[in-house]
Amino acid sequence: RETVSLKPGPATRVFRYHATLRKGPPSTLVPMPGYLGPTLNFVQGQKVRIIFHNQLPEPTIAHWHGLHVPQVMDGHPMYAIAQGQQYIYEYEIRNPAGTNWYHSHTHEMTATQVYQGLAGLLTITDEQEQKLALPGGEYDLPIVIQDRNFTADNQLQYLQRGMHERMVGFLGDTIVVNGQIKPVIPVKTRAYRLRFFNGSNSRIYKLGWKDGTPLTVIGTDGTLLEKPETYPYIMLAPAERVECWVDFSGREPGTDLMLYSLEFKGAVPRMGGGRRGGGGMRRHGMPQGAVFPVVKFHIAEKVSESPGLPENLTPFHRLTEKDVSDPAREIPIALSMRRMSPQLNGLSFEMLKVVDAERIPVNTIQKIRIYHDGHGMRGGRGGPGGARGGRGGMGMTMPHPIHLHGEQFQILSRIMRDQNTSDYDTVKKGFINSGRKDTVLVMPGEEVTILKPFNDYTGLYLYHCHNLEHEDMGMMRNFLVS
Ligand code: C2O
Ligand code: CU
Ligand code: CU
Repeated sequence: RETVSLKPGPATRVFRYHATLRKGPPSTLVPMPGYLGPTLNFVQGQKVRIIFHNQLPEPTIAHWHGLHVPQVMDGHPMYAIAQGQQYIYEYEIRNPAGTNWYHSHTHEMTATQVYQGLAGLLTITDEQEQKLALPGGEYDLPIVIQDRNFTADNQLQYLQRGMHERMVGFLGDTIVVNGQIKPVIPVKTRAYRLRFFNGSNSRIYKLGWKDGTPLTVIGTDGTLLEKPETYPYIMLAPAERVECWVDFSGREPGTDLMLYSLEFKGAVPRMGGGRRGGGGMRRHGMPQGAVFPVVKFHIAEKVSESPGLPENLTPFHRLTEKDVSDPAREIPIALSMRRMSPQLNGLSFEMLKVVDAERIPVNTIQKIRIYHDGHGMRGGRGGPGGARGGRGGMGMTMPHPIHLHGEQFQILSRIMRDQNTSDYDTVKKGFINSGRKDTVLVMPGEEVTILKPFNDYTGLYLYHCHNLEHEDMGMMRNFLVS
């Protein structure tokens, strides 16, 4: 394992990634090397070759989350390799500057493999970004947030107590940032570029300062925004990234600033069928939506110079309905839960299958509507199953971070369909709907319409819930681009 920074140019360097699962405790003092994979730093236009070597006693495959790559390079679970085999990835970096990541995408084993460390950051830079002279070097920091459980003797533990917890997804009670427990980041009195990334299996963060100071966002999943934007807090679902401009100028050396995950509601599954057993969904440890500290910034040193926040970041072409290739077509992604199984359009994952709604002509822009279907939704849209609780005896609705492989999409609209919820008020100001995204959090009762290009490459690409337990339970399907 090594960190490789590849320079632009015709030459391709070889990077070897040895997939191994690490056991053992992260130190409370220093980041544990190998806790995550190395950060890969790439340049737009560069050609890369990555040799992925499986040293695990189980199959695995790597996916480049956020990257626009040919189908055979995308890490579809059909390409999983056995112990001792290698998979050679070769592709050109087409994405613009931004923060992406890579992780295992193994059939029914993504959650456990990512949990045990098969994930890492992947940054891309481009000429436009370099012109901006954003804070670089030690002032450009990744903040990888994960929740983990440790046993009494400090061993990493993946534990789910029963079916209810499986439905919610894994929630750890220990927050780990860049592999550190109770993280403290020493900073100087100047501006920083902080690349937040939620590398958790299912925990959603509501990042904010307790005193209500807003956060300045300069980038979202995979790309910079057109202009900086401010938010009172930021909702960060699994797999999402957000880049912030955080200025510590004027702070007193020796003082600390704590960034929290603030309290929010609506994330605990709601039961259908008369809400019986609602208490059963409560869990031990730290529930989804609880308030807790994430990372402490310690003002360590006073400096006099600090760069100014650029007014404009990157040119951006906003897609509108006029750009949709087939205006008569709207592709549905209905989120539902049946017989304790989270589904997409009422279907579970099938390795090589698509239905007609999943066939997409290449080089088109499609309108896709993501919504909650039925079960357990108060005043919901009905649909098959309606609010009856479902035939499996338990219907429920909960947030789902929906991710689509391939090119990044834009959010056209976000509508709350459930009139009765006040829970939504606790999260709604924290969604970044501008810029380009590859993962979008869809809260209970919410309907999100996106516009997504399907250019250049054909074949089977995935779309799925990035709650990794949901993904492994089959909340994933293929698009066939052809
Ligand atoms: Cu981050 Cu299909 O994955
Ligand atoms: Cu992906
Ligand atoms: Cu989900």
